[in-house]
Amino acid sequence: MAAHILLLALLSLSSTLIHAYDPSPLQDICVADLKSPVFVNGRVCKDPKLAKADDFFFQGLDEPGNTSNNVGSKVTPVFVDQIAGLNTLGISLARIDFAPYGENPPHTHPRATEILTVLEGTLYVGFVLSNQNNNTLITKVLNKGDVFVFPIGLIHFQANIGHTPAVAIAALSSQNPGVITIANSVFGSKPPISDNILAKAFQVDKKSSSFPSLPHLFTLTIQVLYKTFVSQILTHMVHLICVVVNGFVCKAIKEVKANDFFLSGFDKPSNTKNKVGFNVKNALVNQIPGINTLGVSLVRLDFAPYGENPSHTHPCATEILTVLEGTLYMGFVLSNQNTNTLITKVLNKGDVFVFPIGLIHFQANIGRTPAVAISTLSSQNPGVITIPNSVFGSHPPIFDDILAKAFQVDKKVIDHLQAQFWMAAHILLLALLSLSSTLIHAYDPSPLQDICVADLKSPVFVNGRVCKDPKLAKADDFFFEGLDKPGNTSNNVGSKVTPVFVDQIAGLNTLGISLARIDFAPYGENPPHTHPRATEILTVLEGMLYVGFVLSNQNNNTLITKVLNKGDVFVFPIGLIHFQANIGHTPAVAIAAFSSQNPGVITIANSVFGSKPPISDNILAKAFQVDKKVIDYLQAQFWVDP
Ligand SMILES: *[C@@H]1O[C@H](CO)[C@@H](O)[C@H](O)[C@H]1NC(C)=O
Ligand SMILES: *[C@@H]1O[C@H](CO)[C@@H](O)[C@H](O)[C@H]1NC(C)=O
Ligand SMILES: *[C@@H]1O[C@H](CO)[C@@H](O)[C@H](O)[C@H]1NC(C)=O
Ligand SMILES: *[C@@H]1O[C@H](CO)[C@@H](O)[C@H](O)[C@H]1NC(C)=O
Repeated sequence: MAAHILLLALLSLSSTLIHAYDPSPLQDICVADLKSPVFVNGRVCKDPKLAKADDFFFQGLDEPGNTSNNVGSKVTPVFVDQIAGLNTLGISLARIDFAPYGENPPHTHPRATEILTVLEGTLYVGFVLSNQNNNTLITKVLNKGDVFVFPIGLIHFQANIGHTPAVAIAALSSQNPGVITIANSVFGSKPPISDNILAKAFQVDKKSSSFPSLPHLFTLTIQVLYKTFVSQILTHMVHLICVVVNGFVCKAIKEVKANDFFLSGFDKPSNTKNKVGFNVKNALVNQIPGINTLGVSLVRLDFAPYGENPSHTHPCATEILTVLEGTLYMGFVLSNQNTNTLITKVLNKGDVFVFPIGLIHFQANIGRTPAVAISTLSSQNPGVITIPNSVFGSHPPIFDDILAKAFQVDKKVIDHLQAQFWMAAHILLLALLSLSSTLIHAYDPSPLQDICVADLKSPVFVNGRVCKDPKLAKADDFFFEGLDKPGNTSNNVGSKVTPVFVDQIAGLNTLGISLARIDFAPYGENPPHTHPRATEILTVLEGMLYVGFVLSNQNNNTLITKVLNKGDVFVFPIGLIHFQANIGHTPAVAIAAFSSQNPGVITIANSVFGSKPPISDNILAKAFQVDKKVIDYLQAQFWVDP
């Protein structure tokens, strides 16, 4: 009885939690306009042209919070309200300070899984499984450098069991995870929940349910959780999501141990004695099996003095980086649509910076001392594509004439670059993430209505496009004409893409699909590029194409290629670098379909060597392991988007 009442009263929302992951982004960046009066799912976006590095930046996470309160803990949030650039990116973080014997009392996050890293002190932490799993309490004592996962929607707590202050960083898989502190929700709601209901629910006398002291409440809550608490969140989540989503098979719940959610040694630096002066320590699904299906992970980045993490992308994740030690210079490059704009920032201890999903980015230590950072990623398996390795170090190599045309240089330069990467690739391969092969994460959000024809004239920026009044929708909103007309391939790569995205067919808005016609002159090519938000299916209408894509670092940058003839169809998985080249002496034509209304295009050469302003040649020289002169030469080329 009581269980049912509480179940209804408290967490009737829990059945929706399962589906409450943040929607995927529909554009490179959607910086929250925190002053807009318009209500949307998340936040209205600023005009992307007005985006600044500071929109992706937060300062002062090295400062302790004030724990002089009755629970002896303080959470400093770094959510979308603190970093406007997090809007639509499905990730955030917080610093938690604990006084000696302070605690972060039992609470849930309705929209996020949490990964906690202990920076200082000793914490006793735990979470409670749902009824179906006998309300099992899973606990662990954590020390400095330990990492622990709290699955989405489950009630959890952290308590400092040491006589010194403790500090932790929590990563959360939502731009706005929400917090429901059980005590406040149950005993402090406005208006109050009837004391009859609570007395019965908690199996206590009415007198004590007015506002129990905290230790009492704590014990009480745990007991209640054990006895009576709530629905089927975890089972649903594990069973539903494991079936539907890629990832690993789940363990039987009975065999689950606290150690499945735990990793130690995150305070220990990794070896940075390699060509780039950089190394990574992972807390991904391979290291913490409990992260499976939870859509979030963590890495520790160590930089030698002047070391760098070369240009790379994560096909499946947004990243939030927090500097623990040292001074880092970092940046990311917007896609072709946004003219390959480079956004950079120098970060000091305690500073936080966001790298949106799929965009090329880098970090470099500009100090004379080692630097350390912790990055949170919005996927259990974010994947890494290191650009130099993927383009010049694939196995087997991409043909040098394809790259010579793409990078507009002599084949000798390409051969020289390709010769570099045996070593560097190997080091990076060992250094970078060892993951399984799931890459699919960034689907467009599902539509919430029959049609949402984009109002292309609306001045309001949202995730995707504002809808027209459905009454005003016309057949022409779903129509595009002239895809039989060849594009003009008289340019230096000999190819032309004619897009049919949401900007061309307004009716595509929220529908998660689009297409393009690609024309190739004889021996023309569509140079190496990625789509940050879409998988592509290519159908050859005329001619003969040589096509390929490169797997990410953890799969040895393996190159997968195929010669396609008229009527052949080929798939390029989301976020991977790929190309198409006409190997016939007649023009070729293909139609590409994309799993996004706005897939985005990042042409590697343009993004890396043609960004505005240019990426520092020091950084690129180290990344590509060549002389600065080669980089300067490449940067001097005139980069045209195909
Ligand atoms: C911390 O909070 C307490 C209580 O609100 C206040 O009295 C104290 O001045 C604060 N300390 C600092 C350093 O802000
Ligand atoms: C829960 O307890 C019941 C009865 O003790 C047992 O049969 C069942 O296997 C348990 N389930 C789990 C997931 O521990
Ligand atoms: C194709 O583009 C080239 C270079 O921009 C231009 O000179 C030429 O006139 C164009 N051809 C057509 C048919 O538009
Ligand atoms: C990558 O290369 C290493 C060393 O050559 C090899 O052991 C491993 O099996 C390769 N992995 C894949 C996915 O090809």
